[in-house]
Amino acid sequence: MNPIYSRIAATGGYLPERVMHNADLEQMVDTSDAWIFERTGIRSRHIAAENEKTVDMAEHAARQALRDADIQAEDLDLILVATTTPDQIFPSTACLLQARLGNRGAPAFDVQAVCTGFIYALATADQFIRSGTVKTALVVGVESMSRIVDWTDRSTCILFGDGAGAVVLRADSTPGIISTHIHADGAYAELLQVPEGRDQLTMQGNAVFRMAVRTLGDIVQETLAENQMGAEDIDWLVPHQANIRIIQATADKLNMPMDRVVTTVEHHGNTSAASVPLALDDAARRGCFKAGQNLLLEAFGGGFTWGSALLRWA
Ligand code: COA
Repeated sequence: MNPIYSRIAATGGYLPERVMHNADLEQMVDTSDAWIFERTGIRSRHIAAENEKTVDMAEHAARQALRDADIQAEDLDLILVATTTPDQIFPSTACLLQARLGNRGAPAFDVQAVCTGFIYALATADQFIRSGTVKTALVVGVESMSRIVDWTDRSTCILFGDGAGAVVLRADSTPGIISTHIHADGAYAELLQVPEGRDQLTMQGNAVFRMAVRTLGDIVQETLAENQMGAEDIDWLVPHQANIRIIQATADKLNMPMDRVVTTVEHHGNTSAASVPLALDDAARRGCFKAGQNLLLEAFGGGFTWGSALLRWA
């Protein structure tokens, strides 16, 4: 039997209308545009409106991906949503989204791996497609990070933003997704978390920074080694958009010039599980990717969790 691969049929993205610039943050905490930009590469981020829910943003991104893939919601065999900021404890955001889209009966569930959530969900959907149980899947990464940020803490509130990104995956006889790699180590939970009994995130920024740089360097090497590839075989790096210095460090380890690295962090900030699919959608819409090019997606986040996906653009 011929192997089955999953291929990205289309992408979608959504950013809330409200833009918060560094100058706005200067009015809220003791910080400056120069400090934020120099240490993080962020100039602005989008913030969900008061009445705008996580599922609203997911729906926008999902509908765009479905439209561009020319697929009806009822044709979806699987709906996965990566999020750490659901509107409700249950039903899952995936079930809420399923009802919005008008699909009935397909399995729908959330994946919670913080900033690595989209890579985890993509890896999960890929396994369902490779096994032959699913032909068409919707994978969404969506976050309302503004709801769990402590807006009085200058060391964290400058980093995050809201948004949603989506992909439609279809079974195909050629890749598509070549390999996915996901990992976790719960021993580091306290470095980046919403502590028990609280509803705002805390982070030891310096320690997280160092771990992210080391771990992302390792995951890209693991991905290349498993596929007997070298860094020169990668056309585009699509990294998690946490901090431009973390992105640059990973690109340096791969010897990749920054013009082959997709960066949206300047205008999106860190949108957690939405960051990789938003970056993918942004670059795809700008026509960056050519058929046959190899893309390396990677992410790191709370847990700690980390992962990558190597895929061929079709
Ligand atoms: N504006 C001005 N000064 C700030 C500030 C802000 N927004 N936030 C912190 N500072 C100050 C600190 O208080 C500290 O002052 P001190 O030296 O007087 O104590 C100084 O800047 C340096 O702080 P430090 O935490 O060492 O800075 P940094 O270079 O590590 O940058 C982060 C801080 C948060 C930008 C950086 O650690 C980071 O990006 N970490 C990873 C975050 C991340 O990606 N998390 C999500 C992973 S998915």
